[in-house]
Amino acid sequence: MRPVLEVDLAGLRLKNPVVTASGPFGFGVEYAPLVDLGAIGAVVLKSVTLQPKDGNLPPRIAETPAGMLNSIGLENPGVEAVIQDILPELKEHGAKVIASVAGETVEDYGRVAARFAAAGVDGLEVNVSCPNVGRGGMAFGADPENAAAVTAAVRRAAGDLPVFIKLGVLGADVVKVAKAVSAAGASGVSLINTLPGLAVDLRRRQPVLGNVTGGLSGPAIKPVALWAVWRVYEEVGLPVIGMGGIMSANDALEFIFSGATAVAVGTGNFVNPRLTVEMVESLSRALAAEGVSDVNEIIGAAHRER
Ligand SMILES: Cc1cc2nc3c(=O)[nH]c(=O)nc-3n(C[C@H](O)[C@H](O)[C@H](O)COP(=O)(O)O)c2cc1C
Repeated sequence: MRPVLEVDLAGLRLKNPVVTASGPFGFGVEYAPLVDLGAIGAVVLKSVTLQPKDGNLPPRIAETPAGMLNSIGLENPGVEAVIQDILPELKEHGAKVIASVAGETVEDYGRVAARFAAAGVDGLEVNVSCPNVGRGGMAFGADPENAAAVTAAVRRAAGDLPVFIKLGVLGADVVKVAKAVSAAGASGVSLINTLPGLAVDLRRRQPVLGNVTGGLSGPAIKPVALWAVWRVYEEVGLPVIGMGGIMSANDALEFIFSGATAVAVGTGNFVNPRLTVEMVESLSRALAAEGVSDVNEIIGAAHRER
């Protein structure tokens, strides 16, 4: 029998736990010719700011051992364009939509969240951990008080929508930040954003990336991400969307066993653009092979079975 894959992510019913990580999947519509957007748990949009934003200087990506660096710099067309030009198409595809909110000030975050909430998205993710922007981004997430202030502003603007705060692991202890955002009204946390990194072009004797530094993602960061998910599940108890190097159903299972209710695929989409939908099927087969009838039975299982 097919295992139950439906999960309750902080009140948001997802038909399965496989979602997209913000960024590498764009706004989802780019993948619609290849991926049935209604067949995955949710599409998490690329982070969006109040006004349109140009990104960083090229080159903006570089391949690294077991991963990649990116320094996109939150390029996006602004919240109004996303609501008008993209949301309706996503809804036509039957996608559950979690919008990712970014900003340079606490007020910006609140305004973008309010616009998305009024436009009928299913949930909000709040990017307070981007390492590739001068202002905003990591400056908020690396400090418990700042992260709590952004969370409170988004919470007020979001009405009943679930709000997931996306955290990194640098700057402040992730458990401290997760506790602070929990107290400020977060429904859950997304773990983890990229880690800062650098690559050097030997021929030019210069950094590869136009922005000099970038964010490291892919399998190289998976153990760090699992460590963060493990600790937040154990010490905070908030629902977690886990991400960082998830390339297979087995990777997804490691995150679910560690405490993630949902798993997000980012860099893996560049290797196989159909990875998300294929992972729904391979996860289903893996659970059946393990004799698990409902994925909810195994969320956090690694904590119980020690
Ligand atoms: C090209 C690229 C763009 C990204 N853009 C965003 C973004 O706009 N907002 C965000 O919260 N995270 C962004 N991320 C981070 C991912 O959502 C994710 O947290 C990280 O890459 C780890 O997952 P992965 O190893 O599966 O890629 C981006 C990552 C990549 C590789």
